[in-house]
Amino acid sequence: MADSPPISSDKNRYTLTLFLSVSLFLSVVFLSNRRYLQQSLDDFFPPVHPQTLTPPPPPPSLLLRKPNPAADDEESEARSVAADVKKNITAAAIVAVEAAVLKDVDSGAANRSDSAAAAAASEIASSSPDAGFGSGGREEERERVMRDGLNDCDLYMGSWVRDDDYPIYKPGSCEYVDEAFDCQGNGRPDADYLRWRWKPHGCDLPRFNATDFLERLRGKKLLLVGDSMNRNQFESILCLLREGLPDKTRMLEISGHKITKGRGSYIFKFLDFNCSVEYALSHYLVKEGSRVNGQGNSNPTLSIDQVDKTSKKWKRADIIVFNTGHWWRHRKTSRGVNYYKEGDYLYPHLDVTEAYRRALQTWGRWIDQNLNTSKQLVFYRGYSSAHFRGGDWDSGGSCYNEKEPVLNDDGAIVNSYPAKMKVVEEVIAGMKFPVRLLNVTRLTNFRKDGHPSVYRKSSSTNSSIKVVQDCSHWCLPGVPDAWNELIYANLILKLPSSNDT
Ligand SMILES: *[C@@H]1O[C@H](CO)[C@@H](O)[C@H](O)[C@H]1NC(C)=O
Ligand SMILES: *[C@@H]1O[C@H](CO)[C@@H](O)[C@H](O)[C@H]1NC(C)=O
Ligand SMILES: *[C@@H]1O[C@H](CO)[C@@H](O)[C@H](O)[C@H]1NC(C)=O
Ligand SMILES: *[C@@H]1O[C@H](CO)[C@@H](O)[C@H](O)[C@H]1NC(C)=O
Ligand SMILES: *[C@@H]1O[C@H](CO)[C@@H](O)[C@H](O)[C@H]1NC(C)=O
Ligand SMILES: *[C@@H]1O[C@H](CO)[C@@H](O)[C@H](O)[C@H]1NC(C)=O
Ligand SMILES: *[C@@H]1O[C@H](CO)[C@@H](O)[C@H](O)[C@H]1NC(C)=O
Repeated sequence: MADSPPISSDKNRYTLTLFLSVSLFLSVVFLSNRRYLQQSLDDFFPPVHPQTLTPPPPPPSLLLRKPNPAADDEESEARSVAADVKKNITAAAIVAVEAAVLKDVDSGAANRSDSAAAAAASEIASSSPDAGFGSGGREEERERVMRDGLNDCDLYMGSWVRDDDYPIYKPGSCEYVDEAFDCQGNGRPDADYLRWRWKPHGCDLPRFNATDFLERLRGKKLLLVGDSMNRNQFESILCLLREGLPDKTRMLEISGHKITKGRGSYIFKFLDFNCSVEYALSHYLVKEGSRVNGQGNSNPTLSIDQVDKTSKKWKRADIIVFNTGHWWRHRKTSRGVNYYKEGDYLYPHLDVTEAYRRALQTWGRWIDQNLNTSKQLVFYRGYSSAHFRGGDWDSGGSCYNEKEPVLNDDGAIVNSYPAKMKVVEEVIAGMKFPVRLLNVTRLTNFRKDGHPSVYRKSSSTNSSIKVVQDCSHWCLPGVPDAWNELIYANLILKLPSSNDT
């Protein structure tokens, strides 16, 4: 990355932190200058009607998908993520993390939350049914109270609190977690990392209610588009929603595909809710191609002025969650030599940050031109932190034996926010379409304990600890569950009663 600060091992911890964030940053970015919660909340969707009768299962159609065997190579992604990651994230960074762990949790936060809860409770007690809300009075009132509790609350500033009701689904209970994220199944011995809930300072996230989430999805498609970090999130949402099905067989991949890293698209139908949850692999969101060079070899290119072929699916989805990031660290991407294209022009060299900006602008322009704000809802999920210590993915970089999150939010590591996120913020701010930033960077910064580490394969052994660790994806159940809880909170905010518009 051209704008990564050079790191020397004796720099202070702020510098290390900044570097770490920049390295990780690749995964995505999106920020809107508008405060998230102050955006218009209305008219994205019609109100939910939980009493709707269960429709008959839709016919399994839409079978046209092509396998993409080499598409999502975990190893090379790990390499691309880690290759430029600071070779030596040394003592300073580790000390910063450890010191932060020792500090107390912000007690004021819990206090503020109590007041919010109290206010919400008193509102329940005192409010009379609002005629404008129509017939489903109690449902809607419950919903309004939930929504009011979230108003004026920054969902992304908070801390992880211990909660023995977590995880939301049991490890090993969900067949949609693929091996790479199945840490318990791969022998991870500690389990405390499963018992943390994300708690915004000013409010509590609504308890995840899978049935309610599915009701909100009724008749809709939810699509996740991005790299394998989004597959991580996709598997999480499948497992979370599955909890809402009394009969777990009422959910299926329409072609019977099992989730693996080798396939680039999935469509899961929830038969009793007439909705689908889909995944489309897209490393860059813009179009990958190839050219034949003077020696007759085929070389990869990236057309930063055209969206990816998965955009056909973007149009048809009701709710879309995008990300892109890790692959912008890949060597060919970061070198930018004879790689980026605009029209027929192949840049002999283009700086990766500039290329990233133009690609995101292409993405934003496409959304502005093709999606309908009154029918579709777009999230951009922000950069998810990696926590490699002491080396790269292939040189002993480690998050092994991390068993607790950082429990204090004053540390430079936790506060770090990748400089390149600015690009995303700018792009989103310049768009007509109100893209919602799932600003998860900070909450992931805390979770050095949440990665698969050596438990990325069932054959993990002591010797593999020294070889390759995955400190960028997340164990499931785990951190991506919180991202999906945040989507749920967003849907509650976004699906007001009809007279709110
Ligand atoms: C906030 O904390 C203070 C001191 O701990 C306590 O006296 C007060 O009752 C708390 N307020 C609420 C609303 O919990
Ligand atoms: C979950 O949502 C469903 C459907 O809206 C509702 O009937 C149920 O009471 C909710 N469960 C909880 C625990 O709130
Ligand atoms: C299912 O949802 C689609 C929209 O995605 C709608 O056109 C169709 O009528 C719904 N089917 C039933 C049986 O409700
Ligand atoms: C967006 O969708 C709404 C509701 O279906 C429709 O009335 C409107 O014409 C659409 N806008 C555009 C630009 O297609
Ligand atoms: C990191 O840098 C320090 C200071 O230069 C050095 O002593 C240490 O061996 C390095 N560690 C690794 C893992 O490279
Ligand atoms: C996202 O969170 C970071 C802290 O990690 C904060 O600095 C930034 O302003 C937030 N962005 C938005 C749009 O709220
Ligand atoms: C790793 O080594 C420790 C002792 O060094 C042993 O107790 C443990 O069972 C080993 N784990 C695996 C997965 O082989």
